[in-house]
Amino acid sequence: MADLCNRIAKLKKERDAVILAHYYVDDAVQDIADFVGDSYYLSKKATEVRQKVILFCGVLFMAESAKILNPEKTVLMPDTTADCPMAHMVKEETIRNARAEYGDLAVVCYINSTAEIKALSDVCVTSSNAEKIIRALPEHNILFVPDQHLGHYVARQVPEKNFIFNEGHCIVHTSISREKVEQALRLHPEAQVLAHPECTADVVEMADYAGSTSGIIEQAATSPAQTFIICTEVGVLNQLKRVAPDKTFYFVGDKKMCVNMKKVTLEKMEKALLTMADPIVLDEDLRAAAEHALRRMHELGG
Ligand code: 13P
Ligand code: SF4
Repeated sequence: MADLCNRIAKLKKERDAVILAHYYVDDAVQDIADFVGDSYYLSKKATEVRQKVILFCGVLFMAESAKILNPEKTVLMPDTTADCPMAHMVKEETIRNARAEYGDLAVVCYINSTAEIKALSDVCVTSSNAEKIIRALPEHNILFVPDQHLGHYVARQVPEKNFIFNEGHCIVHTSISREKVEQALRLHPEAQVLAHPECTADVVEMADYAGSTSGIIEQAATSPAQTFIICTEVGVLNQLKRVAPDKTFYFVGDKKMCVNMKKVTLEKMEKALLTMADPIVLDEDLRAAAEHALRRMHELGG
């Protein structure tokens, strides 16, 4: 593996590339990335790096967002089939119908969405900034797409707004049931429960802390608790072990792994940098339309 990592490092230099990775990809991939973070951090980082090529180790909406924000850069993925199913769980028609039905409406899309949905939205959010951004919007009615669970979570934090929800969900986070968390708590009653807001409301209600992957990692590092029940994808364990090596972490849920994030491997990273094949390509009108929602997120969420 050391040889493979050395070859990737050499290719990275030759291609003038930077590696961005999400916390859910395999440990080995996180370990050789230049920057590892949550989806908001990675979208910001993509606008700051100076290299000509971004090798994005995550799922398609993340690489697509990097391209939307950096049309002049080459954005590569180790596996272009790594896609987030939730990103496709909203129809353009849902947005058009809501716009026709409601005056004073803001369409808010979770970053886990396609470029087409971003292009139809007023602002993009992630779980780390959704509450702050929605609170700051002048509109009273909020159509939140595609994730119903993050939408309901934010709606509970911002009760002064009227939310319209969509049916999307994440299969990894909805596989974490209240019963599973209760079972884990019976075994480890001293544990703190840390949950991603893509979990269902009954799980989030039980949590001592709810937030993005970065938020969960920071909470584990700074909390005086020693034991944690983690309600998100198991990839965050790599960073949890780094920031809190003496603490204990238990994961719950029937699907602890995001199969799409796990498609990213070192071998595919090397191949992507060698061949430079299948860079993200977006129609310029679509890209420009989608850029507005992402830039507004950076303005309001910074
Ligand atoms: P974060 O923004 O918290 O990293 O979440 C991304 C994601 O896909 C969660 O499933
Ligand atoms: Fe999508 Fe869920 Fe995987 Fe996150 S964990 S990328 S929301 S399928």
